[in-house]
Amino acid sequence: MSRTKANDEQAARLPEPSVRRWLRQKLLTWYAANARDLPWRRRCDPYAVWLSEVMLQQTQVETVRGYFDRFLKKLPTVEALAAADQHEVLRLWEGLGYYRRARQLHEAAKMLVDQYGGQFPSDSKTIRRLPGIGRYTAGAILSIAFDRREPILEANTVRLFSRLLGYEGAPQSSEGQRLLWAAADVLLPRRDVGRFNQALMDLGSLVCTVRSPRCDVCPIATKCRANQLGKQETIPSPKIKPRRESVREAAVVVRRRGRLLLLRWPEGRRWAGLWDFPRFPISADSAIDREMAKNVLELTGATIRPGRRLATLSHGVTRFQITLECFEAECTACANRAAMETRWVRPAELKDFPLSSTGRKLARMVS
Ligand code: ADE
Repeated sequence: MSRTKANDEQAARLPEPSVRRWLRQKLLTWYAANARDLPWRRRCDPYAVWLSEVMLQQTQVETVRGYFDRFLKKLPTVEALAAADQHEVLRLWEGLGYYRRARQLHEAAKMLVDQYGGQFPSDSKTIRRLPGIGRYTAGAILSIAFDRREPILEANTVRLFSRLLGYEGAPQSSEGQRLLWAAADVLLPRRDVGRFNQALMDLGSLVCTVRSPRCDVCPIATKCRANQLGKQETIPSPKIKPRRESVREAAVVVRRRGRLLLLRWPEGRRWAGLWDFPRFPISADSAIDREMAKNVLELTGATIRPGRRLATLSHGVTRFQITLECFEAECTACANRAAMETRWVRPAELKDFPLSSTGRKLARMVS
């Protein structure tokens, strides 16, 4: 299809100017009465908005609440974040997962302080040069903190716009993305942009829900194409999730004179910067003692005598479903050559180290 034809087709799907005006007014009125009371809405400076949006990228609102307050209490400004140790930043992020977000947030804070005097740039192109800030996060910061006319598109508004326009294609396709971003853009009011974008997110989250959307209380249901067609349960078409691949790993709690052995994941690894008990992929159960001894020696330089099995933990990480066999072991000798940075830690000190979530579960079991 030619570009012009595609553009014409897209324009025909978007609401007309009179409907846009109606939608803006309905949404802002609804928001005035129904906005959720969320901690980041009490403090609309760019740092707080940025922090909340990064936390919310892969995490539910209810989980983020506590993390957001705790993080801001410890690191209340972009200068404080830039000056913090990565160790502290990761400890505050521990349990939220997707730790790359925290490392990039920290990097971006240092750049903001070094290059922009700690002030947030107020144009999209510059903001998007910062690590971890894409089109969505830039749009959210600019609209909410600066009331700039910038669109956003995230899970809730993808669903809401797909239904509003009656878009039956895949929202993640390039055609879907082009259409939905265009809708997010043309619907924006001239003022109150931040409130409008948040109204869309709240309506998506509270009313235009994944299952059983509450069209009876939706302020824009009469203009919603999916509602008119009775297709609100089938639009948008569900994402096909790839099956998780099963993998088996072992983690070993190595003891020596009352201390426990931790390693620190290096750059480039999923948990880069976090501490953990030595862990590695394992194959069959039969030679597990030998496999454990070899892997712990390679990773940490510790020679071990494997002991009893502590637990079997199951957890999902991205596309993997991991069965983690956890063991105890005694250190019998310790060499200085290790693949990873390591530390012998007293059980009472474990609380100060940022650990992976399974690392924290194990730490609770052994201290
Ligand atoms: N999800 C992502 N950002 C949000 C925000 N600012 N308010 C509510 N939900 C959100």
